[in-house]
Amino acid sequence: MSEVLARLDGIERRFGSVVALDGADLILRAGEVHGLLGANGAGKTTLLNVIGGMLRPDAGTIEVGGSVVSFQTPREAWTCGIALAHQHFALVPAQSVLENLALGLARGWADPVRDVRAKALKLMDRIGLRVPLDSRVDHLGVGDKQRLEILKALLKNPRVLVLDEPTAVLAPNEISGLFALLRELAAEGRAVVLVAHKLDEVLMVADRLTVLRAGRTVLSTVPGDYEIPDLVRAMVGADPVDAIAIGVDVEPRSTKREPGESVAHLDRVSVTGGPGVDLEEVSLHVYRGQVVGVAGVEGNGQRSLALLLAGRVSATRGSVTLPEGLGFIPQDRSTEGLIAAFDLTDNVALALHRVAAYQDGPWLRWSELTRHAETIHERFEVQATSTSVLAGSLSGGNQQRVVVGRELSIATDLLIAENPTRGLDVAAAAFVHDEIRRLVATGVGVVLVSTDLDEVLALSDRVFAMTRGRLLEVDEGQRSREGVGALMLGGAFAHA
Ligand SMILES: Nc1ncnc2c1ncn2[C@@H]1O[C@H](COP(=O)(O)OP(=O)(O)OP(=O)(O)O)[C@@H](O)[C@H]1O
Ligand SMILES: [Mg+2]
Repeated sequence: MSEVLARLDGIERRFGSVVALDGADLILRAGEVHGLLGANGAGKTTLLNVIGGMLRPDAGTIEVGGSVVSFQTPREAWTCGIALAHQHFALVPAQSVLENLALGLARGWADPVRDVRAKALKLMDRIGLRVPLDSRVDHLGVGDKQRLEILKALLKNPRVLVLDEPTAVLAPNEISGLFALLRELAAEGRAVVLVAHKLDEVLMVADRLTVLRAGRTVLSTVPGDYEIPDLVRAMVGADPVDAIAIGVDVEPRSTKREPGESVAHLDRVSVTGGPGVDLEEVSLHVYRGQVVGVAGVEGNGQRSLALLLAGRVSATRGSVTLPEGLGFIPQDRSTEGLIAAFDLTDNVALALHRVAAYQDGPWLRWSELTRHAETIHERFEVQATSTSVLAGSLSGGNQQRVVVGRELSIATDLLIAENPTRGLDVAAAAFVHDEIRRLVATGVGVVLVSTDLDEVLALSDRVFAMTRGRLLEVDEGQRSREGVGALMLGGAFAHA
């Protein structure tokens, strides 16, 4: 067998009373792409942060290149050739993309920025992940932040590359470009470890799999030895409840729901100078009881459309009619969806304090809000000891559950959902799809903006593609991965 580059053995790590890791093992070998699987809250990010020197374990050993190490800082891990692309991006918001890339690199270079620009351009060409190098990071959408986070790790040219959920907001062609590069890196004798919740995606690229459950390694295997249902069983520790729990609910919709009355209307709306790509003469009716799906390569105006429908940007021209009971699941839970330093109840209150049921004259009905937060906690199986824990201490998928649960509960007329299942494990993603279907059945209109074409095709009654700020409806006959894909690519990349 090939050389072991890193070995983690019996790793334990607690956060107060929460046991995040409880005997996790992981062996990373030269020449292998390693898929790390596990449900939300299983401990994947914690384990990767241990490898990357962000967290110190309470027990267990880490060996790199045959010697036992004890990293005090991420820099020490990097000195040993380990680089991480974080699930919760580690970026400096007020600096440019280029500055962030340079920051991650070695000190003491003669002219790091010029050097980094040339290297970054070359790398972006090679894998087809493009980020505008001179933009400020806080002006980027979540897709660009993700691309930057990946590029930053790749530019370090690591021996061990660690990618924590890098694909959740990438377009299908970007994912294949990234995976091709991961294969090349492995072929050069490096080790790659990758977290993703879509099992078919992981199986496409991985040479080896490790499944974590409740902080413990429960399975280490090679693809082919286990079928997807077995892997899911290892992840959840029980039989998948039904086919849906293993993520096979992504068949394209074959029947269309009957439209109710119009609940939101855009009439020849243009948006210029907003945070997203400009919109040009967009007209759209969203009907009660139907899902409008919007696909498209990022940077073609989907973001502006979502913000417009959520009432977060205004039209430059044209008219916009929106209802009262509007829920918005934003693309980036950490910057737009939650306040990390607030507890779960406060995070729920943030969006609900304007709802009449939670008001009592000038006061808030705090006990009602608390009860509501508890309901979300239970229904969405948010892994948190109580609703008094800080949102920032939850795992990524558990944060997403809080945002989704809250917004579904206030969307009594209209729900705008951007990548609603980003970061959710297969069971939670299927649950959220069901919840969206239930909501639609009660007469709510839904606009689903997603980079996940399967999700768009599975949930939507009408499918649109955005290209260069225009909205095009996809004909019934073209409603397939290929048909929508072709229409999307008819548009241009924003920063080609
Ligand atoms: N800084 C922290 N403070 C308190 N608890 C934490 C902290 N970081 C992680 N945890 C807890 O440790 C457990 C494992 O979290 P982790 O982020 O490793 O899960 P994950 O497998 O990456 O999940 P996801 O798929 O949702 O990203 C969770 O219960 C989480 O709430
Ligand atoms: Mg994680």
